[in-house]
Amino acid sequence: MAITISTPLLMSTILFILTCIPIPSFSCPSHQKQALLHFKSTLTTTISSSSYHMVQLKSWNPTSDCCSWERVNCTETKTITELHLDGLVVPLPDIDPAPVFSDILAPLFHIRSLKLLDISNNSLHDKIPGDGFVNLTELVHLDMKDNWFNGSIPRQLFGLTNLHYLDMSNNMLEGGTRTRVRVFSELNYTEGGLSVEVGKLLNLESLILSANFLSGKLPQEIGKLTRLRELLLQNNQFSSGVPSSTANFKNLETLDLSQNSFSMQIPASIGTLPNITAVDLSNNKFTGPIPSSMQNMSKLVILGLHNNKLVGKIPTWLFSFTSLDTLFIGGKGNGLTWNNKAKFIPNYSLKFLSLISCNISGQFPEWISSQKRLICWRKPLIFIFIMVGFWRFDTKQWITNRIGRHDYNSVNG
Ligand SMILES: *[C@@H]1O[C@H](CO)[C@@H](O)[C@H](O)[C@H]1NC(C)=O
Ligand SMILES: *[C@@H]1O[C@H](CO)[C@@H](O)[C@H](O)[C@H]1NC(C)=O
Ligand SMILES: *[C@@H]1O[C@H](CO)[C@@H](O)[C@H](O)[C@H]1NC(C)=O
Ligand SMILES: *[C@@H]1O[C@H](CO)[C@@H](O)[C@H](O)[C@H]1NC(C)=O
Ligand SMILES: *[C@@H]1O[C@H](CO)[C@@H](O)[C@H](O)[C@H]1NC(C)=O
Ligand SMILES: *[C@@H]1O[C@H](CO)[C@@H](O)[C@H](O)[C@H]1NC(C)=O
Ligand SMILES: *[C@@H]1O[C@H](CO)[C@@H](O)[C@H](O)[C@H]1NC(C)=O
Ligand SMILES: *[C@@H]1O[C@H](CO)[C@@H](O)[C@H](O)[C@H]1NC(C)=O
Ligand SMILES: *[C@@H]1O[C@H](CO)[C@@H](O)[C@H](O)[C@H]1NC(C)=O
Repeated sequence: MAITISTPLLMSTILFILTCIPIPSFSCPSHQKQALLHFKSTLTTTISSSSYHMVQLKSWNPTSDCCSWERVNCTETKTITELHLDGLVVPLPDIDPAPVFSDILAPLFHIRSLKLLDISNNSLHDKIPGDGFVNLTELVHLDMKDNWFNGSIPRQLFGLTNLHYLDMSNNMLEGGTRTRVRVFSELNYTEGGLSVEVGKLLNLESLILSANFLSGKLPQEIGKLTRLRELLLQNNQFSSGVPSSTANFKNLETLDLSQNSFSMQIPASIGTLPNITAVDLSNNKFTGPIPSSMQNMSKLVILGLHNNKLVGKIPTWLFSFTSLDTLFIGGKGNGLTWNNKAKFIPNYSLKFLSLISCNISGQFPEWISSQKRLICWRKPLIFIFIMVGFWRFDTKQWITNRIGRHDYNSVNG
């Protein structure tokens, strides 16, 4: 008996079979595409009603594969892994724009496969939407710098334990400060700006929180981040001592704690960090002597200790590092004294040396004239370096920035 199948039935059977066979996808998942289109339309609407210019995202159109869109990167199997959304929102000059609120980010939080998210430099206001980040557990690189985020660092971020890179610099972040007590006209923050939960981010290599209003103590738990290579906390309001757990930072290369209110002695443990090349502790309230353990920092290139409350003799070993080229040890507050009797010639050449207001009595050390690479010096050597703005503390860049961004005034005295 012959079975006859009608043509329409055959067609639909074939179609049915075809749709059931898993075929490799040739474009990104539609829910991820929808999320991005939703983000684009929200942003466009927001921007059109305020005084910003917006980068157009022309390639983001509904008919193409979103893996081919600008600022989007996918895996080979077409899931989105990277969103480079920096500098999309540009404030127009001379206009005080209405804020762009951080809730425009909401659609992005549905793209759970993200490994890199860069939303820096977008004039985003209001708090960091912590809840949104809970499902972005694959994130390795998160850059939120150069926005107007305020409030505290949401605890949900500390659940993103795959993070290697976290940059929240140049925002308005504060501590979780529910109680601020004024004591002797200095703000006494009873709750710290950085949660003990930061210790969960065990894979972090870069933690960059500079230029915010974070305050309070650095938690001991920060010492759990043994993979850190850069810790940049400059230009905040951190106070109290630097926790001894910083001794665990065996991979740390750059430490910038400058422009805070850190006090007590510089922990001797800093001198035991084997890979450290740049240390800036300037503009704080560190007391006591320069720890002698620091002579073990054999890879040191930059050392900033100026404008503290350091006392004691300027150790001669400071001038026996072979790699050091920038040294700032003077400044307001420091009571360091020069050892006039020390007879030595340093066996390296500094590019920058600042000895402002050091308690230098008597003769100026002769070796200073042997520093052929010194820029702008006059006798007696007193430099005033005025800091302008803030910058990423990247060793090479730092030096360039210092050349570019500082005013140098030589003072005869
Ligand atoms: C991401 O995509 C851009 C082009 O859209 C490309 O230049 C860049 O190399 C990609 N990055 C990675 C990590 O694949
Ligand atoms: C911020 O983004 C704008 C527009 O894309 C760009 O012109 C500017 O250089 C960016 N600023 C920084 C600090 O990256
Ligand atoms: C954060 O900024 C938003 C918008 O600018 C403002 O409404 C809010 O009060 C600020 N919150 C805090 C804690 O400062
Ligand atoms: C995160 O995932 C959970 C479970 O799937 C879901 O219920 C929740 O709504 C998601 N949160 C966000 C902000 O997308
Ligand atoms: C802050 O204030 C509290 C209560 O007034 C006090 O116990 C504490 O010692 C103060 N901390 C600092 C660092 O001054
Ligand atoms: C220090 O740096 C070297 C070379 O960059 C690297 O191989 C090493 O793992 C780092 N860490 C320690 C603890 O020496
Ligand atoms: C420098 O390091 C060596 C070996 O690691 C150690 O024995 C010595 O005590 C250290 N020097 C100082 C001043 O800490
Ligand atoms: C540099 O000088 C110090 C003492 O001034 C000496 O101990 C050290 O060995 C010298 N280093 C080099 C590389 O010459
Ligand atoms: C400066 O040094 C002299 C002697 O070297 C010392 O008597 C004096 O107390 C020092 N002044 C300060 C402010 O440290």
